[in-house]
Amino acid sequence: MRFELTEEHLMIQQAARDFAQNELLPGVIERDSKQEFPAEQIKKMGELGFMGMMVDPKYNGAGLDTISYVLAMEEISKVDASASVVMSVNNSLVCWGLEKFGTEEQKEKYLKPLAAGEKIGAFCLSEPEAGSDATSQRTTAIDKGDHYLLNGNKNWITNGNSASVYLVMAQTDIEKGHHGINCLIVERGMEGFVVGKKEDKMGIRGSDTHSLMFQDVKVPKENRLGDEGFGFKFAMKVLSGGRIGIAAQALGIASGAYELALKYAKERVTFGKPIGMHQGVGFKLAEMATEIEAARLMCLKAAWLKDQGENFDKESAMAKLFASDVAMKTTVEAVQVHGGYGYVKEYHVERLMRDAKITQIYEGTSEIQKIVISRAVLAD
Ligand code: CAA
Repeated sequence: MRFELTEEHLMIQQAARDFAQNELLPGVIERDSKQEFPAEQIKKMGELGFMGMMVDPKYNGAGLDTISYVLAMEEISKVDASASVVMSVNNSLVCWGLEKFGTEEQKEKYLKPLAAGEKIGAFCLSEPEAGSDATSQRTTAIDKGDHYLLNGNKNWITNGNSASVYLVMAQTDIEKGHHGINCLIVERGMEGFVVGKKEDKMGIRGSDTHSLMFQDVKVPKENRLGDEGFGFKFAMKVLSGGRIGIAAQALGIASGAYELALKYAKERVTFGKPIGMHQGVGFKLAEMATEIEAARLMCLKAAWLKDQGENFDKESAMAKLFASDVAMKTTVEAVQVHGGYGYVKEYHVERLMRDAKITQIYEGTSEIQKIVISRAVLAD
């Protein structure tokens, strides 16, 4: 076993770090305060290959492995978790789902512009009454021969207004329970599809989270992803991969806050010495550094398993569960290290603290991760 990144991994990590510092850091506080989507920055991320990192170059992707994706997600999330959630949903849920389960026609039409970052994708599973209990889909997709008639509402949809391609889970045959759910590719502009209210969120405020409404939307049969009734399994499979991305996002938020706290602890002097030299602060830094290292190893292990073609469901859930708790704890402590300065926007850590919370909630709450992990360990 070699705990070593390749030259290529290090180059990708550096490229993501440079991009985050040069392109995302300026304006991140303002975008957060105005709830402004980082449209220009996402366009540049597409040009650099960050929006379709793991997609085969024949479909406009960068053809990289999941380890590279984790490294890039960490660097981008250190600075701007709003940009990184757009990246994560596009890469892990939408592009990966389309590449793994789409037809050649679907890949040509939808995957290529998404992987190039020319278009943004959204993943639409959550509903007003189906969040954690994702099998309870109320949105219906009634089979009308050559098309499905789509009706219902979706909630909490990341990229809700900025996307143009939506993967929508809907119930076709209620009798079959979750075996009657389909995933349909819905395009922006299809008649009867309306983007609803934008959520005013605590964190990741630069990303746009919306409700969506579907009223008699005619979705052609060729837009179904996978076989009839495969929609729920599709959602579970892509979410399992998505959890590696969110774990890496949580890791980035934690390491971003830690780096700021460390710098501040070296510079700020009280009682005649830098505050890091006081044991109360030094111990906080020691705990942060240790827990971040553990979270990083868990993210990389889950990514490595995925790259090997092994089952990674348990490890991705573990990485997300652990890294999101580390993000929450580390950001709270980073604010504490900064004292009063930590409580004002200029110093970034208060934003990172607000951003951290969502990592314990989306792509399955911490409680959902524990369900996935406990089932896996009991089945071992
Ligand atoms: N891979 C393949 N199939 C899977 C699977 C996986 N990882 N996990 C479950 N399945 C299959 C099961 O095998 C089962 O199929 P069969 O009946 O054929 O055996 C089927 O799915 C149903 O599984 P369960 O019986 O385990 O279902 P459940 O009702 O007990 O719930 C759950 C399972 C894990 C709790 C699931 O509902 C879940 O993950 N909920 C959370 C949903 C979620 O993460 N939502 C986030 C929204 S998306 C988002 O946040 C994106 C964003 O915007 C950032």
